[in-house]
Amino acid sequence: MPETRLLLKHSGDPEYRAIAGYMAEGGYVGLKKALTMERQAVIDEVKKSGLRGRGGAGFPTWMKWNSVPKEKTKPHYVLCNADEGEPGTFKDKELMENTPHLMIEGMIIGGYAIQAEVGYVYIRAEFMDCARAIKMAIDEAYENGFLGKNILGSGWDHDIYVHMGAGSYECGEENAMMRSLMGERGMPGLKFPHAPFPTIEGLWNLPTLINNVESFACVPHIVVNGGDWYAMIGASTKNSRGTKIFSVSGHVNKPGNYEIEFGMPLMELLELAGGMKGGELKACVPGGSSVPMINKEQCEKAIIGYEELVEVGTMVGSGGCIFLNEHTCIVTFIWRTTLFYARESCGKCTPCREGSGRLVAALARLRSGDDAQKTAALRDIDELVTVMRSASLCGLGQMAVSPATSALQDFRQAVGAPKGANT
Ligand SMILES: Cc1cc2nc3c(=O)[nH]c(=O)nc-3n(C[C@H](O)[C@H](O)[C@H](O)COP(=O)(O)O)c2cc1C
Ligand code: SF4
Repeated sequence: MPETRLLLKHSGDPEYRAIAGYMAEGGYVGLKKALTMERQAVIDEVKKSGLRGRGGAGFPTWMKWNSVPKEKTKPHYVLCNADEGEPGTFKDKELMENTPHLMIEGMIIGGYAIQAEVGYVYIRAEFMDCARAIKMAIDEAYENGFLGKNILGSGWDHDIYVHMGAGSYECGEENAMMRSLMGERGMPGLKFPHAPFPTIEGLWNLPTLINNVESFACVPHIVVNGGDWYAMIGASTKNSRGTKIFSVSGHVNKPGNYEIEFGMPLMELLELAGGMKGGELKACVPGGSSVPMINKEQCEKAIIGYEELVEVGTMVGSGGCIFLNEHTCIVTFIWRTTLFYARESCGKCTPCREGSGRLVAALARLRSGDDAQKTAALRDIDELVTVMRSASLCGLGQMAVSPATSALQDFRQAVGAPKGANT
């Protein structure tokens, strides 16, 4: 099965980055069409499309849009999550640099659907080129009447601002992101069911729609071609529709972003990326480093889809797909990955602040200790995983244990093996 390039179709074309090139390929037709539609009709098309959030959780996009209060009594906001910090994931970067108008158009359509007057793009600090491309696209959208007052004579006003983060992975978590944007420390607060969803109380306690870059970039295609058309792509899967960009890295011959139709076997994605480099396939982390690792046999059974990947013990996540060859030391890999999460822990809650550091220490003992130390380390890891997963306040602490748990399930025998054994 080849790639299905919907979002990345013009990614290699420098002209497409500017509004003239974008419009020559049908850009902003979706916005023009949306503005002639009832707001609810736009949401209904997104519902028909079956689009699910591409930021990691796979939540149905239309449900978020639909849950913003319809009766407009106060300001509404749109917030585009362009923080892309998950190790292994680099697809939003390519979308922002090469196809910035696609995302901006999707954001404006989202803003129209939920009656927002302001949108924010929260971009991670390191993505200077993305920020430049997005700012240029916003300026061009204003010049052409797609942003600002009375957009295309619709009577609806909308502005978009870019906000640069400060390089914290945690600020990709939506609650922490909103706090950071409001000038507070980038830490999450109470979440549903202890606090309302952001679509009810988000930025400044006002309704806020938060979606990922790739999620917004899908929207113009859905509006132009219709939700039913989009839902035909990936229809062989249980409940995953459209295309998904996977950032393929690790021991492959052609690392890069590949946009594929849901339903493709994972091994075909590996083929697209030029196959394994330097040895046979040993394991894969298909959705960014916080999703569970799967072994070769699971990879061979895996079909790419939200439910289908769960069936083999992992997740679509954000689409950061890391293939590891037979020479990879699994313990070193999970130790290094867990070290990232420990360093990025915001420190607000004890299970993650204390647990992530202790987990790293236990993995280090597993990596280089003697047999008795390894046995004790495995016991500590089991306890830490239970506490962190069940008691951490946000997804960082809850998911930081995934590399360790999944890898140890499969490779337990190997990691418990005497020192020096290649795991
Ligand atoms: C620690 C952490 C980091 C996250 N980082 C990102 C990120 O960089 N980009 C992103 O879109 N979502 C990220 N998310 C998920 C967001 O909280 C949120 O679910 C997402 O932006 C919603 O958009 P979607 O429905 O379009 O996927 C992160 C979640 C957690 C727990
Ligand atoms: S789980 Fe970690 S990152 Fe999330 S609030 Fe707790 S300490 Fe902060």
